[in-house]
Amino acid sequence: MIGIRHGWAGLISIDTVPLKWDNVSSIINLGGTILHTTRTNPFTRPNGPETVLSNIRSLGLDALVAVGGEDTLSVAARLAEMGLKVVGVPKTIDNDIVDTDVTFGFDSAINATVEAIDRIQTTSESHDRIMVVEVMGRHAGWIAAYSGIASGANVVLVPEEPLDLEQVSDFLKKRHQSGETASIVVVGEGCSVIGTSPGDSSKVDEFGHPRLGGIGDLLAKEIEKRVGIETRAVVLGHVVRGGAPSAGDRILATRLGIAAAEAVKNQEYGVMVCFRGNVLSKVPLSDIVGKMKNLDRETLTILQDFKI
Ligand code: F6P
Repeated sequence: MIGIRHGWAGLISIDTVPLKWDNVSSIINLGGTILHTTRTNPFTRPNGPETVLSNIRSLGLDALVAVGGEDTLSVAARLAEMGLKVVGVPKTIDNDIVDTDVTFGFDSAINATVEAIDRIQTTSESHDRIMVVEVMGRHAGWIAAYSGIASGANVVLVPEEPLDLEQVSDFLKKRHQSGETASIVVVGEGCSVIGTSPGDSSKVDEFGHPRLGGIGDLLAKEIEKRVGIETRAVVLGHVVRGGAPSAGDRILATRLGIAAAEAVKNQEYGVMVCFRGNVLSKVPLSDIVGKMKNLDRETLTILQDFKI
């Protein structure tokens, strides 16, 4: 078994590493990936897909296991249509892959976020400030919603709902007029003020995604101006994408890894292993392409009590 380094880039340039028991036997408590990663999209490179397929042949691989988010798995799906024997494994902190209840990375990210918000709460209370906490998650509000609910935030803003500055400020103004002296606002990086687009569209990756981030600062300035209370922004960003994985993520990753190995053994290709209703399952990779799992209705309903 070999590992491909730097994602799809490692199949364009042939960058591999042996995956023996010694290489992997003590990595379960590590975050990130020992194989490294990139946002390389072979379909944007000249002869990219053909190069990937011929390099896989020259490496003598029987099958490929692709681990990643929607971008990685969509490339896998397109290569599967071109004949690649591939099994997908859903992995992202964003938890936004369709057809699976949860992706590994998410549980660790929300645990780290909740711990950080608990700490930020101290400053909010001691200094009588409004603290705006910006979290990752792209255009889905899973990290914002779950960490906001679990930390008892006062306002939780998710990309699935329009962000109305007027409403948020009015809510916070009333809250502080009623005697409260501290507030926590959690905002997903994919949120944007009504009528604007999130992120920096001048910085777009090979999958066409703009670099997100910045809404926390903007929001803090606007809230301070409109509410008249000192407001500070904290961008948690990559801080919660690192560190040791949670026990839940270690178990989920192990279960999905075993399911992927079984799929390869049974020569079931062009599928993504997934986890639904506490049961491991498989779906065609083609089913997940170009889709995003947004917050479900129940979570959105819970969030009604966390804003405005
Ligand atoms: O998809 C995972 C993720 O962490 C998103 O939440 C975030 O928008 C993005 O990656 C950041 O990626 P990068 O580190 O490449 O800027």
